[in-house]
Amino acid sequence: MASYDVIIIGGGPGGYVCAIRCAQLGLKTACVEGRETLGGTCLNVGCIPSKALLFASHQLHEAQTNFAKMGLKGKSPSVDWPQMQTYKDDVVSQNTKGIEFLFKKNKIDWIKGWASIPQAGKVKVGDDLHDTKNIVIATGSESSALPGVEVDEKIVVTSTGALSLPKVPKKMIVIGAGVIGLELGSVYARLGSEVTVIEFLDAVTPGMDGEIAKTLQRTLKKQGLKFIMGAAVQKVDTTKTKAKLMYKLRKDDSEHQLDADVVLVATGRKPFTNGLGLEALGIGLSPRGQIQTDSHWATNVSGVYAIGDAIDGPMLAHKAEDEGMAVAEVLAGKAGHVNYGVIPGVIYTSPEVASVGQTEEQLKDAGRVYKVGKFPFMGNARAKAMFAGEGFVKILADAETDRILGAHIIGPNAGEIIHEICVAMEFGAAAQDIALTCHAHPTVSEAVREAALACGDGAIHA
Ligand code: NAI
Repeated sequence: MASYDVIIIGGGPGGYVCAIRCAQLGLKTACVEGRETLGGTCLNVGCIPSKALLFASHQLHEAQTNFAKMGLKGKSPSVDWPQMQTYKDDVVSQNTKGIEFLFKKNKIDWIKGWASIPQAGKVKVGDDLHDTKNIVIATGSESSALPGVEVDEKIVVTSTGALSLPKVPKKMIVIGAGVIGLELGSVYARLGSEVTVIEFLDAVTPGMDGEIAKTLQRTLKKQGLKFIMGAAVQKVDTTKTKAKLMYKLRKDDSEHQLDADVVLVATGRKPFTNGLGLEALGIGLSPRGQIQTDSHWATNVSGVYAIGDAIDGPMLAHKAEDEGMAVAEVLAGKAGHVNYGVIPGVIYTSPEVASVGQTEEQLKDAGRVYKVGKFPFMGNARAKAMFAGEGFVKILADAETDRILGAHIIGPNAGEIIHEICVAMEFGAAAQDIALTCHAHPTVSEAVREAALACGDGAIHA
């Protein structure tokens, strides 16, 4: 078998980006992937297909709610679900083929199959044993199981099944008001499902800035999603076509029941490392099953590295990509680096939510003295023209030095406009640096500048 400088196990955003960077840096590279297509969970059954459905359902919502107001008349479109699925599948296939092309272009061998690591320096796929100087584990994550709830991917589904339902369900229950639950829950609500989100805690999206989380929940409620908060799911029973969910309210232990056509379980994900042979290899794992690595993504076994959802940190495709590029540089003898303090997080609801850096709660807990610059999209002309005046930009800056410590946005294009703040933070900028930067008018990005101005002498349009 061919001998490699590096074999990457997993062809998701962490693995394939790592492979491309390794090849670009002159390393003889292979990537093992057992799926039919490259791209991992994100491209095949995660970020990308869900964004296609988000876009389509958002267009429908716009047509239903805003077209007539703009003087665009005509019959409101209805949902052709098989066609929407075809559109979604086309988007996925264009992207997965794109990675295959990039592999060929960069002379990366795609070893098809599921890998195990019998010893350092060897990767086994099927009956073949491949020699390699280094191994990078980029095997991603899978949905966590919930006791009493059996997933069949038909009636009780994870995000994977939720993306390919045979029809738009009349009634859907979402367990977990996290990122997946709110994104997919709002897609189906816009497509006409009656959606109830059931959450163990008292707030949605734990870990997010509290003010943003409250605004997001209020906005989604207005869009028709129902929320049952502080509820512990006991079990889900299914017939051929229906589900019955039993839950207890934490405040008084009272028992309740809900019926639905589909139940989406979105209560978190866990590292996927099954079948790699990590135990026999002696690779250190955390109690939560994450592969333990040092600051250069090296495990305790020489020549074996790990990145992405399989290790500690936020389970985000772009965090995995950054680690993939950085570990490639380490393997090529360069200084790979990831700034974990500036990793944006985006929730692709409508309006979008985006955040970077510290939340107000984290700053309070750390006893930091900070100031808040806020600006509502109602004061932004471009947002109002798009019926997107809901939400705000919030910048948190050090009270003394004005250095930006975090930023949180709920509103139009939040996932795009957060990046100027990310760049500013990478450069250690002060809020005033953004405030003094000319922003084109009229753009929604002006709201970012206004929030930065609000950290100083005040916003202009508030
Ligand atoms: P999550 O961790 O974001 O949210 C899970 C939610 O379920 C939490 O609010 C939690 O309190 C709740 N929960 C847990 N057990 C429960 C129970 N028994 N009953 C009721 N509620 C319960 O997990 P999620 O949404 O499944 O996403 C998994 C991972 O995928 C996350 O790390 C997320 O960051 C990532 N992801 C990111 C996306 C993005 O960046 N846009 C999109 C999709 C996933």
